[in-house]
Amino acid sequence: MQSVLIIGASRGLGLEFVRQYRQDSWLTLGTCRSPEQDALLAAEGATALRLDVNEAESFASLARALDGRSLDLCIYNAGVFGPEGAHVRTAPDRESFDAVMHANVFGALQAIPVVAPALAKSKGKFAFVTSRMGSIEHIASGNAPMYRASKAALNAVVKCAANEYGPHGVTCFVMHPGWVKTDMGGANADLEPSVSISGMRKVIASADASANGKFFNYDGALLPW
Ligand SMILES: NC(=O)c1ccc[n+]([C@@H]2O[C@H](COP(=O)([O-])OP(=O)(O)OC[C@H]3O[C@@H](n4cnc5c(N)ncnc54)[C@H](OP(=O)(O)O)[C@@H]3O)[C@@H](O)[C@H]2O)c1
Repeated sequence: MQSVLIIGASRGLGLEFVRQYRQDSWLTLGTCRSPEQDALLAAEGATALRLDVNEAESFASLARALDGRSLDLCIYNAGVFGPEGAHVRTAPDRESFDAVMHANVFGALQAIPVVAPALAKSKGKFAFVTSRMGSIEHIASGNAPMYRASKAALNAVVKCAANEYGPHGVTCFVMHPGWVKTDMGGANADLEPSVSISGMRKVIASADASANGKFFNYDGALLPW
């Protein structure tokens, strides 16, 4: 049975990853932050692990849960957009800057050394959900500067992970999910979560060693950094 750990599995895209991997009979571990979400994940047939990606101590518990274990796949999905309407014309407050950078960058930096050894045991894959908004080449306005900067930073972090863990057989890459109807994407978004996730699952399934350090759209197209 193949195994997947989804970091940020409580709702939106993370929960849809849980549903689709369970439908495919994968052993599915999902992280969340409340007892209600534990129950939701259990009802989907997943094992719930408590993790707040802003808290380094939380990753110490994850390390204990993964000790000696091998994983075929980890998806770092947790993310925060920050205040609606943020624009480069207006300086952010420290609290919202920290919230975005912690969830999108600090959490990934915490997850990598904890999870990569479990993936190395089975020559697994480490996929990170980024955004096309973090593609510097695609930036064409002054909106959402913190979110864009955080996803560009995440992309740089994953490039580092690809260099370090790729030679140990762990294929590390980032994926843009499309604009998806979730709490973050809103009701006017282009895609249903089921479409985005089945697209990203195909990207993951076909990722071989040549995918290490690459930036994919949910439909498999390569995106520029
Ligand atoms: N939806 C889109 O159109 C879109 C587009 C591009 C990229 N993305 C990216 O896709 C990913 C998933 O987004 P979504 O649309 O599903 O957003 P969402 O519905 O807002 O869900 C965000 C997820 O991240 C988790 N999370 C946030 N902060 C966390 C923390 N400190 N510790 C642990 N988990 C935390 C949330 O858990 P809680 O329930 O505990 O808060 C939730 O599971 C994000 O990385 C996002 O940037 C989304």
